[in-house]
This record gives sequence, structure tokens and C-alpha cells, in this order.
Amino acid sequence: MKTIAIFGSTGSIGKNTVAVIKNAPEKFKVKILVARNDVKTLISQALELDPEFVVIENLEHFLELKTALKNLKNCQILCGAEAILEVAKIHCDLMISAIVGSAGMLPTLNAIRAKTNIALANKESLVCAGNFLNQEAKKHGVSIVPIDSEHNAIFQIFENNNLNLIEEIILTASGGPFFNSDKNFAEITIAEALKHPNWQMGAKISIDSATMMNKGLEMIEAFYLFPIAKKQIKILVHPQSIIHGIVNYGDGSTLAMMSLPDMQVPISHAINYPNRMKINHQKLDLAKLQKLEFFEVDEKKFPAIKICRDALEVEGNAPAILNASNEIAVEKFLNSQITFDKIPQIVLETLNKIPYKKLDSIEDVLLNDKIARDFAKKLTI
Ligand SMILES: NC(=O)c1ccc[n+]([C@@H]2O[C@H](COP(=O)([O-])OP(=O)(O)OC[C@H]3O[C@@H](n4cnc5c(N)ncnc54)[C@H](OP(=O)(O)O)[C@@H]3O)[C@@H](O)[C@H]2O)c1
Repeated sequence: MKTIAIFGSTGSIGKNTVAVIKNAPEKFKVKILVARNDVKTLISQALELDPEFVVIENLEHFLELKTALKNLKNCQILCGAEAILEVAKIHCDLMISAIVGSAGMLPTLNAIRAKTNIALANKESLVCAGNFLNQEAKKHGVSIVPIDSEHNAIFQIFENNNLNLIEEIILTASGGPFFNSDKNFAEITIAEALKHPNWQMGAKISIDSATMMNKGLEMIEAFYLFPIAKKQIKILVHPQSIIHGIVNYGDGSTLAMMSLPDMQVPISHAINYPNRMKINHQKLDLAKLQKLEFFEVDEKKFPAIKICRDALEVEGNAPAILNASNEIAVEKFLNSQITFDKIPQIVLETLNKIPYKKLDSIEDVLLNDKIARDFAKKLTI
């Protein structure tokens, strides 16, 4: 039986992970559940899965959680960010790293140091600290298998080896809700930006998809996941979200991975890797698909792509600053403090104002994350 820790169990990826696990309860034992605010979902997951540790970040919900789980005799119920970092040090066979934002970075690092393999949804960890997480993973013999559908697709294709013959990888992008819209970006409402055409996701990644910052973050994530050069990473808009990743080889072959847009597919692959498992899913019926389209990204309309490419080009503290300022800008938009068009402007302004430097340690990453957050919070654009 594989022991599993789900960090971010109440979110979109977390709930889908629980659904996948239910296909084969004899294969998986959920040992740790971690969430922040959604105490009701956390309680029902804990009662169903009987884990050894349940942690809620927000102290306000601790009493309700403890009371509801009082009959779970072998379960420790904990609270707070420190407790999350501590339970991440407990070895499991696999961590589902699905906390949103850079808050997922230190728990993921602690899990790697505990020799827990990682199924990674939390792309922000790799964006901020890709080199450090990779070094630690190598040192501790830990595998990082991506859950992000595009990276999971590329990961699956890369298993064909012949890595030296790879010319480029293509991450597909749905284009989000505004790919075909000529709406003024300053007038986009929160509800419109949250309404993704193909995927059901948490609020932050939905807004990132609408600005296409998500695809930029994924470019950076891909660089730290795969042995490829920066210039070999391409993006193509593919509004149907059927082909998730494409690899072009030097012998003229193009390999692509397809599935319906359902996160349970990459989650199942990542948690069963190197094996596969049957799950309840809707079949991809190619005859029913009317078309598969591909377009170049309009980088004038979606400036986030170039901002991310430039940050990846220089590396150092730039990706961490980019990520932190984007998290703040998205939060401001969701709190109606700024208009939609200001999100990339805040990120760019923060990157322009905070001096570039090389990062020597995880502490350096955290410091730059904090500096960028403080700057972006105060910024009035
Ligand atoms: N959703 C997708 O289809 C998808 C696809 C690819 C990659 N990803 C990536 O996966 C990650 C999660 O995305 P999501 O859509 O699942 O987000 P989500 O629905 O917002 O869920 C986020 C999860 O993280 C928890 N959380 C947030 N802040 C926390 C903190 N400080 N400490 C502990 N737990 C915290 C939340 O707890 P509460 O809900 O209890 O507050 C929730 O369980 C993101 O990095 C995203 O980019 C998501």
C-alpha cells in the first residue's frame, strides 16, 4: 500500500486526488491531510479516509475540526503553518503537493528532505526555487512527477527517451476565457475572469489562466522539470484542451499526449507512476471532436507571457519576484482593488524596481518573495 500525504486536500487538485484514490482504496493509504480554511471538506475527508494527521492552517477552524474528529483514535489533529511544516517532515511514499502559491514551497522541500516522492501540482514551488528543489530531490533520491496536465503529458512522452534528439517541447494553452474576446481588459469582471472555458480550477489559477500568466509560469516550471534549453520551450494556444503536450524530435517525429480536459487523468498517472491504474473517466471519442485548432499566442494582448520568458531568461531572483507579485496582484483583483489589466502591470513594475540578484539559498528565495510581496502590496498603479 502506498502511503499518501495530500497537502491542499480541500482544493480542486486535492478533491480530484481523493476521487482518484477512491478507485483503488486497497492501493493507497492517506496518512496526512492538510488544508487552510475549508474545514467542512477537511472533516468529511478525514472521516472517510481515517488519516494519521490532519492539519488546518487557520486557527479559527481548529476547535470545530478537533470536535468533529474526536472519535478518530489514531489521528493527530494540528493547526498552523508550523504544524504543516512539521508534518511535511514525516516520510510518506508520496506527497501530493497541491497547496496554491509559494506557501507550498517549504512543505514540498521538507517532504523531499524526508525522502517522500512528490506528485507536483504546486508549480509556484518550482518557479520560485526550481534549482534548490531539484538539488535536494537529487540528493535525497526523490522523484518529482508533474501533475500539471501539460507537464505530465511531456513527462509521459519523455519516457520514450532519445532525449538528445528532442528539438522542442510545446505546452498547449486553452487561451483562457478571453482568447477570442475583444473586451476591454480594464472592464473584465471577477466572475468573467473566473469562468474558465475548459477546466474547473481554484480561483488563483483560474485568474492566472485568464491573464495567461499561468502559461508563463508553466514555461518556467517546464525548464526546471525537463533537461531542455529555455529556447526549446514553446507555447501554442489550443482552445479544445485535448492535446496537452507535444514533443518534436529531430527525426521528424512529433509525439503528443491527448485526453479530455480532466485533471484526474494526470493525477492518476502521477500517483501511480511508474505504473498505471484504471479510473472512472469519460472516454475521448475522436470521431466526435469537430476540430483541433492551434494558434500562436498574441503577446501584445497577453503581456504575461513575455514577462515570464524574460524572468526565466535571467533567472536569479526574477522568477520568485514574478511569482510573489503575481500572487499579490491576483489577490488585489479578486478583492476588487485593481482592474484586470493591472495584474501584469504590477508584476512588471515589481520586477523592474527590485534589483536583480543571484539566489544562494532557500532563505534567499523566501527573502525575495517577501520583498516582492511588500512592494506589490504598496504599489498603486
Ligand atoms: N486546479 C487545477 O486544475 C490545476 C491544474 C494544474 C496545476 N494546478 C496547481 O495546483 C495548485 C492548487 O491549485 P487548485 O486549483 O487545487 O487550488 P485551490 O482549489 O485554490 O486549492 C488550494 C488548496 O491549498 C490550500 N491552501 C491554500 N493556502 C494554504 C496554506 N497557506 N496552507 C495550507 N493550505 C493552503 C487550500 O485550503 P482551503 O481550501 O481549505 O482554504 C486548498 O486545499 C496550484 O499551484 C495550481 O497552480 C492546479
